[in-house]
Amino acid sequence: MKELLSFIENNQEKHLEQLKEFLKLKSISAEPEYKEEVRRTAMWLKIHLSKIGFEKTQIFETKGHPIVYAEWLGAGNNAKTVLIYGHYDVQPVDPIEEWNTPPFEPTVIDNKLYARGTADDKGQIFAHIKGIEAHFQTYGKLPVNVKLLIEGEEEAGSGNLDEFIANNKDILKCDTVLISDTEWYTFGLPSICYALRGISFVEIKVIGPNRDLHSGSYGGAVDNPIFVLAKMLTKLKDERGKIIIPGFYDDVVKVSEEERKHFKNLPFSEDELKKSIEVEELSGEIDFSVLERIWIRPSIDVNGIKGGYIGEGMKTIIPSEASAKISMRLVPNQNPQDITEKLSKYLISIAPKSVKIIVNPAHGGNPVITPIDSPGIKAAVKALEAAFNKKPVFMREGGSIPVTDTFSKMLGAPPVLMGLGLPDDNIHAPNEKINLENFFGGIKASAVFLSEYSKL
Ligand code: BES
Ligand code: MN
Ligand code: MN
Repeated sequence: MKELLSFIENNQEKHLEQLKEFLKLKSISAEPEYKEEVRRTAMWLKIHLSKIGFEKTQIFETKGHPIVYAEWLGAGNNAKTVLIYGHYDVQPVDPIEEWNTPPFEPTVIDNKLYARGTADDKGQIFAHIKGIEAHFQTYGKLPVNVKLLIEGEEEAGSGNLDEFIANNKDILKCDTVLISDTEWYTFGLPSICYALRGISFVEIKVIGPNRDLHSGSYGGAVDNPIFVLAKMLTKLKDERGKIIIPGFYDDVVKVSEEERKHFKNLPFSEDELKKSIEVEELSGEIDFSVLERIWIRPSIDVNGIKGGYIGEGMKTIIPSEASAKISMRLVPNQNPQDITEKLSKYLISIAPKSVKIIVNPAHGGNPVITPIDSPGIKAAVKALEAAFNKKPVFMREGGSIPVTDTFSKMLGAPPVLMGLGLPDDNIHAPNEKINLENFFGGIKASAVFLSEYSKL
């Protein structure tokens, strides 16, 4: 073990330079103009993985972006198999003018590495790649069989991944799925996440008159789609923070008092949270603490809204249409399709006759709750402790990783969410970063995980 950790310590500079190469590739999955760059990133990864010692590496085509797969099964049939999942795609960079350093020119400032994808998720998946390489370099082999699945569409909803997994169950067969795509509870406190919220998306279009109308000639007599949409949106939640969609909470599982007590033991300061986002007041369901609102309660948000004229000066119109993108975060046992249907029906039912409503659902993801006594979790506890000299805490997460539930259902393998990020990493925002101690420590944690898991 000592040799393994020294190898990692002695190669930090090299690992950082390689991560920078990976980060320079603009693998933005949501924007069609980056399609070729996404593919180049997949190719770069495949080549890198075969260079470090994987005996088999492969690109799987999908209807969207390619999947990178690699395996090393040299530990034999009787050994355990770990499937490591991550994503090489990143979020768009807008608003670009808010970045202090260019998003695809990785820059170290103050022991933090800034670039799009550093924490979400290139830096985290790369820590595993280097942890694996450390075993190859130190011992010439891995302590367990390892399969790597790195997709290129997570940030776009993983729309083709379920089908891929369903069609390749034999290839992907494993004992546990290790995922590093979450964050620690707070700085200096390694964390294992045991639950993620699910997600449902809906785009709603409100269509009024057949063209923009002069607001003088028609105003007062014709419904304005922006007004209609705004009114409808205010009918999604009541004063007490409850979501009003009929049946919305039907399948929500009640969380035990014991678990809620555990949340209270975690350090939490409402003031610090408010300060960090510069708001005077938080909101939400009054019967639940802030952590509970984010971790164990579902939520609904409007992600964007469009309609009418917002250019310079004045344009006196009643716009012909307005639209909004709505997302909902779901908890066990809410089902994304069911919730999408309930929202769609409700929206249509509250719309006035003066407009037409079109509701477009998009691919969502199930909520997850993982066992916390699996061998994988035990190995992760040991790995984080060895790498960061501190016992990890267990936490939930408000965000979503859509494929996590698919892994447990289709492969029967319990997921282990051993995240390496921090709450201030600015994921999905300008100036995304990863703290280098988390990246270098993450390499150790990955390497130790494989050793520990092989012993269990
Ligand atoms: N890595 C995140 C999930 C996450 C978010 C973990 C916040 C920890 C904290 C993942 O890449 C992500 O952004 N997921 C999306 C999924 C969506 C696009 C289907 C999300 O949660 O919005
Ligand atoms: Mn991610
Ligand atoms: Mn993300």
